[in-house]
Amino acid sequence: MALPNKDYSPGLEGVIAAETRISFLDTEREEIVIRGYNLLELIRLASYVEVVGLLLWERLPTPEERAALERSMVESSVPNAIYDILRRLPSTMHAMDRLRTAVSALAGFDPEANSSDAASEIARAPRLIGQIAQIVANLSAIANGQEPQSFVPGRSFAENFLATLVRRSVTPAEVRAFEQSLIAYSEHELPNSTFAARVVASTLADVYGALTSAVASLKGPLHGGANEAVMYMLLEAGTPEGLEQLIRAKLARKERIMGFGHRVYMRRMDPRAQLLKEVLHELIRQRGEGHLYADMCQRGEDIMRAEKGLFPNLDYYAAPVYYLLGIPIELYTPIFFAARTAGLLAHIIEQHRENRLYRPRVLYTGPRGLRL
Ligand SMILES: CC(C)(COP(=O)(O)OP(=O)(O)OC[C@H]1O[C@@H](n2cnc3c(N)ncnc32)[C@H](O)[C@@H]1OP(=O)(O)O)[C@@H](O)C(=O)NCCC(=O)NCCS
Repeated sequence: MALPNKDYSPGLEGVIAAETRISFLDTEREEIVIRGYNLLELIRLASYVEVVGLLLWERLPTPEERAALERSMVESSVPNAIYDILRRLPSTMHAMDRLRTAVSALAGFDPEANSSDAASEIARAPRLIGQIAQIVANLSAIANGQEPQSFVPGRSFAENFLATLVRRSVTPAEVRAFEQSLIAYSEHELPNSTFAARVVASTLADVYGALTSAVASLKGPLHGGANEAVMYMLLEAGTPEGLEQLIRAKLARKERIMGFGHRVYMRRMDPRAQLLKEVLHELIRQRGEGHLYADMCQRGEDIMRAEKGLFPNLDYYAAPVYYLLGIPIELYTPIFFAARTAGLLAHIIEQHRENRLYRPRVLYTGPRGLRL
């Protein structure tokens, strides 16, 4: 059957590829809907653990359920064999590649790894989210020859995650800024990594295979890899004037500026970026330092709006927040993945529940009729 050209949308732009009850980017009403709630309100008022409960169970947890969920996430333990595997990998390997290997290897330590039964997947999800956060928090330390640290029972998930990442005690204001970034990253409809996970899950392959494909997708600089690229750009620039020069030079060479543009919000500001910008300013106010990064980001934002009509995405403002918190730059994209694991699991579970195999067609432009 020949497919008419009108069915082809390069990059699947504008194509509706899944029916979901999880989230929706309502650009007309400028709202990111997460299971019926506005993501911005969740970032302002909820805890990350509550959002995990909402994503997995389709409703906010009660206080007792939230406490039990947080305990299972904090008290989940990472098998020593996973840390052994990470120790054997070259420390020059990109952190997302090390994470991809660890996520794949976790399957070997889950007796139910091959089950694509939704009830089993929901029950195992909190442990997996806790394990992935602990692996991410220890990735750089292991590459530097240090011992991994486990999360401490009785401390919140967000505090444990941040304190393990930076290996020092952290203030409540720092924990809240970090937690708000986790919520901002937790779920965002159907980006490339979530689509990749759903495509793999649609063969009824298991959670670990689907998550591994999502790590691979998220590494790319057009997707999650943008947050670390933004930080390298800010450090290279050094000052607002330096950033202006750098951006103008890149634009003259027709290069892309990381942290700007978005398939869905191309000509408007990503609402999550606006909120992370507020988080950055609040963090700077609390610490009384770091104004340089806010000034640089503002200059970059102004130039890109004037020159290209492009606006920042979440990664643009997450980068300086993580930098001020003292998080190693190579871990910015792994943190995005750890935060997104909850959303990814919700999608994988939904795909398994209401499955239809993904198998699209092509617009063939190659030769025909060749003879041997
Ligand atoms: C996110 C992104 C991949 C979306 O891309 P897309 O929907 O496929 O849009 P296109 O690549 O077709 O870009 C449309 C136009 O905007 C330009 N553009 C888009 N993002 C740009 C950026 N960050 N810097 C410079 N120009 C950009 C493109 O060059 C293109 O211009 P043209 O029509 O003159 O060729 C793109 O905006 C990008 O590369 N951003 C930088 C990476 C990033 O921050 N990723 C994180 C996303 S959350």
